[in-house]
Amino acid sequence: MCKSPLHNFLASLPKAEHHIHLEGSLEPELLFSLAAKNNITLPVSTDASFASPASLRKRYSAFANLDDFLAYYYIGMSVLLHAADFEALAYAYFAKAAAQNVRHAEVFFDAQAHTRRGVALETVVDSFKKAQVRAEKDFGVSSELIMCLLRHLPLSSALDTFGLARGKGYFRDGTLRGMGMDSSEVPFPPPMWTELYEAAREEGIRTTCHAGEEGPPGYVSQALDLLGVQRIDHGVRALVDGDDALVARLAASKTLLTMCPLSNVKLNCISSMSEFPLRRLLDAGVRFSINSDDPAYFGGYILENYCALQETFGLSIRDWEMIAKGAIMGSWCTEERIAKLLVEVEDVVEEWARQFEEQ
Ligand code: HPA
Ligand code: ZN
Repeated sequence: MCKSPLHNFLASLPKAEHHIHLEGSLEPELLFSLAAKNNITLPVSTDASFASPASLRKRYSAFANLDDFLAYYYIGMSVLLHAADFEALAYAYFAKAAAQNVRHAEVFFDAQAHTRRGVALETVVDSFKKAQVRAEKDFGVSSELIMCLLRHLPLSSALDTFGLARGKGYFRDGTLRGMGMDSSEVPFPPPMWTELYEAAREEGIRTTCHAGEEGPPGYVSQALDLLGVQRIDHGVRALVDGDDALVARLAASKTLLTMCPLSNVKLNCISSMSEFPLRRLLDAGVRFSINSDDPAYFGGYILENYCALQETFGLSIRDWEMIAKGAIMGSWCTEERIAKLLVEVEDVVEEWARQFEEQ
């Protein structure tokens, strides 16, 4: 809970989340219990942080950079083996998100990180789907699943995995709403992936891409120009270092940037929360959402990200109204769902604005 007088407003604001890796919501306690259940030996002999959930959590507070985090992230998800593990992971995320008034979530998963360990794609996707259906029924949270491909593996692996998902009909039947790319960034720039995004375009699906997290603003331009993505995940370096022409282009094209402030600070993509380019985003009219990325690793879910920004920038209720509405309008759900969620935001904003004006 933050110290702002707006904390309860931020908690009750209806939210859309677009940048959450389900594997990044694996809390250390669940990680250890799944390791025990599935007879997976954690590498405690070479890394003492795997001694207990508490020591692992402590290590998570000191990541040097993206790759340092990713090493833990891939070890962590190796405890996920069975359908029930994937369903439990996703349902736990939806329960936490719903408790923070997330009303719509577009969630990532890393297909290859599981298939290369011998877990079938259907085990992963069908289990996440079950959790999505339960979350809609139990919490009224709508959601979409986005398959991410890994940049540190060869293009052929990404194409094979894309082909596997296409062959199962997951894109055609809407089980997978779109495709993204993640993992290490700087050595694997957008021009490497044109063939993959061409295949996605032929399939007629929506596309996004992590870009400008550690990489330069030019990677964001390349993702737009060469990959034809409709969305950029992170893009923070484009807003910190990018020229006005790039920022104006993002604003004019209404490209949604799925921003993750706590992640950016924890991975040293920015030096502190005060470097987060919130003012530039708002002043330039760039469409963006605020997200948790890997909440179990970066110290908070979506509300903690909202709070961190509020404590640093002291935004008004009307600023938050703009942020919340921009996020909803950038969502890949139906027009009806968008319209309903916008009304929900207006109702909460009006109630709180009235209370504050009365004081
Ligand atoms: N960046 C790149 N890859 C990732 C991330 C991220 O923030 N989270 C999980 N995989
Ligand atoms: Zn991410």
